[in-house]
Amino acid sequence: MHRKRPLRRRLYLLMLVAAIAAGGATLQQLRFSATAEAAPSVGQVTATPVSGEAVYQQHCLACHATDGKGSGKYPALTSDHVKKKLGTYDKAFDFISRNMPENSPGSLSEEEYKAVTKYVLSLNNVPTDFIDIQNHWAQKEISALYDKKYIDGYLDKQTDKLSFKPDQYITRAEFIRYFVKAKELFLSNSTESDMTDIGTNKEDRIYIITAVEYGLINGYPDHTFRPKNTITRAEISAILSRSEMLKSSVTANFKDIPSGYWAGDAISAVQEAHLFNGYEDGTFRPDQKMTRAEAITVIYRLLNPSL
Ligand code: HEC
Repeated sequence: MHRKRPLRRRLYLLMLVAAIAAGGATLQQLRFSATAEAAPSVGQVTATPVSGEAVYQQHCLACHATDGKGSGKYPALTSDHVKKKLGTYDKAFDFISRNMPENSPGSLSEEEYKAVTKYVLSLNNVPTDFIDIQNHWAQKEISALYDKKYIDGYLDKQTDKLSFKPDQYITRAEFIRYFVKAKELFLSNSTESDMTDIGTNKEDRIYIITAVEYGLINGYPDHTFRPKNTITRAEISAILSRSEMLKSSVTANFKDIPSGYWAGDAISAVQEAHLFNGYEDGTFRPDQKMTRAEAITVIYRLLNPSL
């Protein structure tokens, strides 16, 4: 986890520089690019795409053979073994960037690792892109966070297709997982928790425990977390305001937020920080669920604030 940090940081800086180069207007729009059409394509500014095949030929052929076949003592990169062990983008990226070539980190750029990872996975017929975000209003935001491996999708084992399901409601566990990853929080060393219902999925468990440790979330008084439940706009506002330590200078004036509402301050603060907007009819709709695309857009805005 930690070893990848410098690479990510570098890319983040690069993106910032690119965003600045792209001009103030773009940055302005960025703040408000939650909704569809006006969204500028800042996430994709980074030059011409690197060819995974070219990276492979330059850096991997010394040991591995063409098209991922085995050579001598070096393993084949196309096999059921690879597919089983590294058959998701996260795992493959992690393995390749950590181990290959031997003098990493630093020998290849993050772009090159990404490209070669996709190439190796494609040799194994492993899907590396979501099939259902093309032309979706949040395509840019979803791709940007997916490229950084902050978010994940659903793999259909029958068809080997990877989907994101952007319009499906996001669950509490999903949001916490993506948020903790996107903030690059240090994962908890502890596996202890008094919550009784977060044990089923080991992956989720560590992110939930981490978020509790950072004071971002609490479980319910009955010691449950209800990971599969959906999460509301008010709940996400509360998490963001805690995480960013946001304070509002004025109380937002939403028709449906009575004074004394539990997340009232948080809602004012996230609105002031341009992370959330209210609706045109003057409501905030605190109890409304969020789709995966909407939640990703909020995280994206948090990571790409206006300067
Ligand atoms: C200096 C020789 C060398 C170079 C260069 C090299 N590899 Fe490897 N690679 C190895 C060896 C040795 C192993 C097996 C050891 C291991 O699994 O840790 C391996 C294993 C792998 C595996 C796991 C295969 C498995 O069966 O688990 C992948 C994936 C991989 N390499 C990808 C790459 C990519 C991509 C590049 C180019 C960026 C690359 N390697 C460059 C020597 C090399």
